[in-house]
Amino acid sequence: MLVKQLNNLKGTVSIMQEDSYGRPLKDLRISITDRCNFRCNYCMPPDEFGPGHKFLPKSDILSFEDIVLLVKAMLPLGLEKVRITGGEPLLRKDITNLIAMIRQCGPKLDIALTTNGSLLARFASKLKQAGLDRVTVSLDGIDEQIVKRISNSNVSPNDIISGIQASADTGLRVKVNTVIIKNYNENQIIPITSIFRKMNVVVRFIEYMDVGGTKDWDPSQVVFGDDIRSVIASKFGKLQAVEDQKYGQVANRWAFDDGYEIGFIESISKPFCKSCTRARISANGRLYTCLFSERGHDLKSMMNMGADEEDLRVAVLSVWGKRADRYSEIRNQRKQTTRPVEMHFIGG
Ligand code: GTP
Ligand code: 5AD
Ligand code: SF4
Ligand code: SF4
Repeated sequence: MLVKQLNNLKGTVSIMQEDSYGRPLKDLRISITDRCNFRCNYCMPPDEFGPGHKFLPKSDILSFEDIVLLVKAMLPLGLEKVRITGGEPLLRKDITNLIAMIRQCGPKLDIALTTNGSLLARFASKLKQAGLDRVTVSLDGIDEQIVKRISNSNVSPNDIISGIQASADTGLRVKVNTVIIKNYNENQIIPITSIFRKMNVVVRFIEYMDVGGTKDWDPSQVVFGDDIRSVIASKFGKLQAVEDQKYGQVANRWAFDDGYEIGFIESISKPFCKSCTRARISANGRLYTCLFSERGHDLKSMMNMGADEEDLRVAVLSVWGKRADRYSEIRNQRKQTTRPVEMHFIGG
């Protein structure tokens, strides 16, 4: 039945299809594991993700061959960027082989990886050699106690900063993502800016979102981009909005007089759904068209049944063509009926 439907569709499909709001698919984010060695309170709270938590069995996780097939299926649709995420992607065995396999699919593809940085010093140069272009490191502070309290891990921020330095030294382009939460790590805005300004690494401050596992999210905990900018400007001087903002860009870019840039991901105060070009694949091979989706489309089962590149392309196009997600724009009007997908499962 499934195969027949796809065959029928094959003849009618048009490449470069836009979704129902005219948004193209340019950016694919693939979660390669639902496991993480951190237990950030806002993502994998330790009381829920304790020793008894059941992670996905190996048989449900996308194989490297599955991932390559998905990338090949989507490349002709106009895909420009692949981001590998987790959980913590550097926990996945032989990750450098996966990067090399994706690189072979597209020499011009922008390949990035999102990591908590704990294992980065060990991996940076191997990742670069395998063909990775960029890493984005999540780090919510410089203060050891604050970072440990948020991440519920024993990893020191100094080890993460060493991983960031090793990445820059080996020629990877590096960004740091910092989620700011009221009464939690607001006092880290200045130390973070200060250290990464010296290292000339771009930092993006993220407004705390009601995504996935953040069931205790409370709007009063959000620190808006405008307020973060005021704190930074009062210490380091004037910030100017960067003019050449690109279509589909998540972060609003701002620069100091000396040219050093920082970004703000303001999905609460300034949602960017209008130009959202991102598709996400969870660790078990489901396609999600929004970070806040409650339901994914099962591509792994299709692959288990022998779907080829073209079958997958048709399926993705059919889902993308109907896409009407704009959660961040309608957050206040919407009633969430079931729990949205977990962040550690879909990768953020
Ligand atoms: P590059 O442009 O490739 O550097 O990355 P990016 O700007 O897409 O940002 P990144 O992947 O580092 O995402 C940073 C954070 O922004 C994520 O961890 C999320 O918290 C948030 N974010 C990313 N994409 C979306 C999105 O589509 N919707 C919302 N609401 N938030 C997003
Ligand atoms: N709000 C904003 N960002 C979040 N992240 C995880 N949960 C949230 C949330 N509730 C970010 C992490 C990391 C990336 C994977 O997603 O800090 O930078
Ligand atoms: Fe923290 Fe990222 Fe791990 Fe979630 S996936 S627990 S945000 S390090
Ligand atoms: Fe895209 Fe959904 Fe985020 Fe809006 S809320 S930017 S549609 S992922």
